[in-house]
Amino acid sequence: MVSKSKVHTIYRCQNCGTAGPKWMGRCPDCGQWNTFVEEREAPSAGRAPRRMTEFSSRVTRLDQVVAETQARRRTGVGEFDRILGGGVWPGSMVLLGGSPGIGKSTLMLQVADRLAGPGHPVLYVSGEESLGQVKGRAVRLGVKNDELLLLSETNLETILETVRQTEPKVLVLDSIQTVYKEDLAGAPGSVGQVRECAAELLHLAKGAGTTVFLLGHVTKEGDLAGPRVLEHIVDTVLYFETERQHTYRILRAFKNRFGPTNEIGVFEMTAQGLKEIENPSMLFLGEHPGDLPSGTAVLAAMEGTRPLLVEVQALVSRTLFGMPRRQMTGVDYNRAMFLIAVLDKRCGFPLESQDVYVNITGGLQVREPAADLGIAVAMAGASVEKPVSAKTVWLGEVGLGGEMRAVAQVSERLQEARKLGFDRAVIPRASQRGLTPPEGLKVLTASSLSEALGHAAFR
Ligand SMILES: Nc1ncnc2c1ncn2[C@@H]1O[C@H](COP(=O)(O)OP(=O)(O)OP(=O)(O)O)[C@@H](O)[C@H]1O
Ligand SMILES: [Mg+2]
Repeated sequence: MVSKSKVHTIYRCQNCGTAGPKWMGRCPDCGQWNTFVEEREAPSAGRAPRRMTEFSSRVTRLDQVVAETQARRRTGVGEFDRILGGGVWPGSMVLLGGSPGIGKSTLMLQVADRLAGPGHPVLYVSGEESLGQVKGRAVRLGVKNDELLLLSETNLETILETVRQTEPKVLVLDSIQTVYKEDLAGAPGSVGQVRECAAELLHLAKGAGTTVFLLGHVTKEGDLAGPRVLEHIVDTVLYFETERQHTYRILRAFKNRFGPTNEIGVFEMTAQGLKEIENPSMLFLGEHPGDLPSGTAVLAAMEGTRPLLVEVQALVSRTLFGMPRRQMTGVDYNRAMFLIAVLDKRCGFPLESQDVYVNITGGLQVREPAADLGIAVAMAGASVEKPVSAKTVWLGEVGLGGEMRAVAQVSERLQEARKLGFDRAVIPRASQRGLTPPEGLKVLTASSLSEALGHAAFR
């Protein structure tokens, strides 16, 4: 029996997992304030510290090792498969994070339904909802599947015992913050609990080859509630995000051991569940017959392997007192400052002394240099209050000297533009070499920002 005196108290940072004997206001490791929480640790009688994985091998020459090649299992939810790198890798552990109510359980129930089939049972464990509530959602989504097993449970031992009995190929745990291990002090969702439960589940994934999906909540700041350590343990981290007012949701791969990151998948939330949006560019473009409003331009950004046409809007107004205001949403702040300076010094648009606001519509983040020209055209248009044609797409990186630099994947971007009815594109001259533009799209080139702005025909 563990004597009372042996139970000791430690304090652990809820953000990064750093532990210490004393409470601290600020974590010395991650620098976050007020993240230390008291944890009571019962010493595990003689138990060896748990290893995260059970891999161990003799030293072997690389050419003698046989690579793991397994068939991925496609879910049939195209956007989801693409983000995972072409389907689910058997025995992998995937973390799906997102803010409350965004649709994590909905997406996973739909995916679980697609994955479950004869000889491929899927166990969906809900720690947050009763069986009746999960069934209610299943009815609404039209999910009917004999190979989909449900369990409403939060005790990890019971969950693992059920897994041993039912031998599912896929386990969904909704959510990791609700499960707890009995012999461990600390409330469900605390760092110690989350880490230990995840370690047990990782053991299951790597040992029995069961694919494990963990659902997790994300804090207001965008961090996964609970320890960051979870992001290191799992193979893949997916985030489900949205702008509050929009009905569509963006699924993003943040980390992926078996596929690309920076891919996005776009879904729309409907009463029948999440529907894939196959042509997301349509979402980010407004309806503008004729010219765009002044200060608006369309650019083609790459999100992973997919080109996405987005609208950038700018507003330039007189600075009333002192320092000009700059507010940038969806674009890199420093990049936008740089473009303001280049427009002012090289192209004669007096922006340095004015307030400048920039926004990417649809709540998207565009962070690549190829977006420079579109942003610059929007800012220049806002400054002179003149519109540009709604059927022109702007592409190019701008240098400090006001020169236009080549960008990658021009062909894919132009094809997407043509598909959506654009008939004119302005690109850097250096990107023209070897390029066969799609039929019906007139390509204009420029070697400097001034020349590109000439194609905008503002003045
Ligand atoms: N009848 C309905 N019609 C349309 N949309 C609905 C309906 N019922 C629920 N939804 C949508 O589903 C969302 C909730 O989905 P879900 O429960 O999957 O989210 P979650 O991320 O798992 O939430 P939690 O963090 O609470 O577990 C709601 O925000 C709403 O947008
Ligand atoms: Mg849920």
